[in-house]
Amino acid sequence: METEKLACTPKEINEYVLENSLRESDLLSELRKETKEITDRFVMQVPPDQGQFLSLLIKITNAKNALEIGTFTGYSSICVASALPEDGHLYCLDVSEEWTNVARKYWKKANLESKITLTLAPAIDTLKTYVEKVEQKKMELFDFAFIDADKENYDNYFEFALKIVKQNGVIVFDNMVFHGTVLQENKTRSQTIAIDKMNKKLKSDPRIDLSFLPVFDGLVITRKV
Ligand SMILES: C[S@@+](CC[C@H](N)C(=O)[O-])C[C@H]1O[C@@H](n2cnc3c(N)ncnc32)[C@H](O)[C@@H]1O
Repeated sequence: METEKLACTPKEINEYVLENSLRESDLLSELRKETKEITDRFVMQVPPDQGQFLSLLIKITNAKNALEIGTFTGYSSICVASALPEDGHLYCLDVSEEWTNVARKYWKKANLESKITLTLAPAIDTLKTYVEKVEQKKMELFDFAFIDADKENYDNYFEFALKIVKQNGVIVFDNMVFHGTVLQENKTRSQTIAIDKMNKKLKSDPRIDLSFLPVFDGLVITRKV
């Protein structure tokens, strides 16, 4: 496909976009700063414009019951939970007590503690219990799921999500270009191989509609049919 020559660089466009749309709160900016200070894995955090996009998605879809697989220090969870209605709830799954202690601190500062339930265990184990609870009608179906934990398990997370997300519900996958490594001819990293396989599966999966946005680190948004 022919594209018109850009009048500036993609970096300049990105700066323009951020300058003209980003509304990061002081609290989120503080969390970003603290995460950078405490761990060199801070790149795992969603960027502020992606967090803002997740908030918008929650509001556009009128989501009430949300799930997050991979919480880290809490940035995306705050974006999601704060966008939910008063009686909405976010279920967060993670394995790291150390990182989610930071999240807990910021949920408190953001007055979101009562809206969030965190379970510390391998997400697959927690999801198994959610499937049982949903089947027994002890837990509501989810309107929204954000998948952002260990990449090798994305397919498992997707299959579980399909069981507990309602029809028309939204499942979002992060890092779907995995720093561009999905385009490498010889893919060596297990995460890259898993993500690439996932992308190919999603493309032809009739159980969902999808859009693959080449923004952030590759965001795939799906709707359960
Ligand atoms: C990319 S980070 C999540 C970033 C977060 N969404 C944010 O915006 O700050 C991935 C998280 O997944 C968690 N994780 C890794 N393996 C997991 C597993 N098997 N079950 C649950 N969480 C896991 C890690 O502890 C880490 O906090």
